[in-house]
Amino acid sequence: MYFPAYRMRRLRQTPQIRELVRETDLLADRLIYPLFVTHGQDVKEEVASMPGCYQLSINNLVEEARQVRELGIPAVLLFGIPAEKDEAGSGAYDEEGIIQMALAALKEEVPQLTLITDVCLCEYTSHGHCGIVHDGDVDNDLTLEMLARMAVSHAEAGADIVAPSDMMDGRVAAIRASLDNEGFTNTPIMSYSSKFASSYYGPFRNAAESTPEFGDRRSYQMDIRNSDEAVREALLDIEEGADIVMVKPALPFLDIIYRVKQETKFPLAAYNVSGEYAMLKAAAAAGWLDEKEAVLEALTSIRRAGADMIITYHAKDAAVWLRQ
Ligand code: PBG
Ligand code: ZN
Repeated sequence: MYFPAYRMRRLRQTPQIRELVRETDLLADRLIYPLFVTHGQDVKEEVASMPGCYQLSINNLVEEARQVRELGIPAVLLFGIPAEKDEAGSGAYDEEGIIQMALAALKEEVPQLTLITDVCLCEYTSHGHCGIVHDGDVDNDLTLEMLARMAVSHAEAGADIVAPSDMMDGRVAAIRASLDNEGFTNTPIMSYSSKFASSYYGPFRNAAESTPEFGDRRSYQMDIRNSDEAVREALLDIEEGADIVMVKPALPFLDIIYRVKQETKFPLAAYNVSGEYAMLKAAAAAGWLDEKEAVLEALTSIRRAGADMIITYHAKDAAVWLRQ
């Protein structure tokens, strides 16, 4: 009945046939490129643990953004490094803060690029936590007010989408209410809904200068052992008004991507994080992996698992490879 009537190799014989039966597309228009913006002029400081990624001053950020758009990548995700940090992370919602200035410049110079901003206090607080610290722990409800102010200030400065990554409870509802109050009813929220307390964020914390000075983020980010909870997190954020949900990291959490997509049917972003990037870059630099093949395989797998869009530091390279 089966063999030899069905021979699976029949449909693998030529590149043309393989294209016809492929089940997953990977195109540059599904990619989002993260960028780190810092004060100063002509700054382009490579992040040691993330070769090819830089802290950029606004003039260089604009040039980079132009290239990103020309490569067919539709969106960037912006992270700011403020001049000064304080307990309350006040640089986060300063009208003349680094992100606010970067947004104004990018909107003017690269209008066809979608600007997504990371909404979280950890780059702006002196202690490096994602919220206001009170009695040695991050105070959830005090933090909500700050996040809502931050999101509104980003929208005012030109953000097209705001992306809260702090993992406080109720933040999507708080941000939605404030955006609506201020007239930003059409600004979507991409919620980092299912974000795990992962060891793969290490390189990013160097890039964004956001390593916590004490403790870790386990009292707010998710326990890596939980999967049902990741679905609940996504469903709760949807109830609060999230337009796009997220799973982060991506490769060690492909099962979560699959489940969240199946159970929510919402637009889903996967964040292929800094540690995932660093691993492939290091192996490629050592000559142990073919970078192009390995990166495209990783990104395709994230799409196959159910991600509609992928936030990745490989976006520029991938866009070039996918054009050929
Ligand atoms: C800030 C934030 C982090 C990342 C995105 N937004 C770091 C963290 O939560 O410690 C990680 C991104 C990456 O590793 O590429 N909350
Ligand atoms: Zn944070």
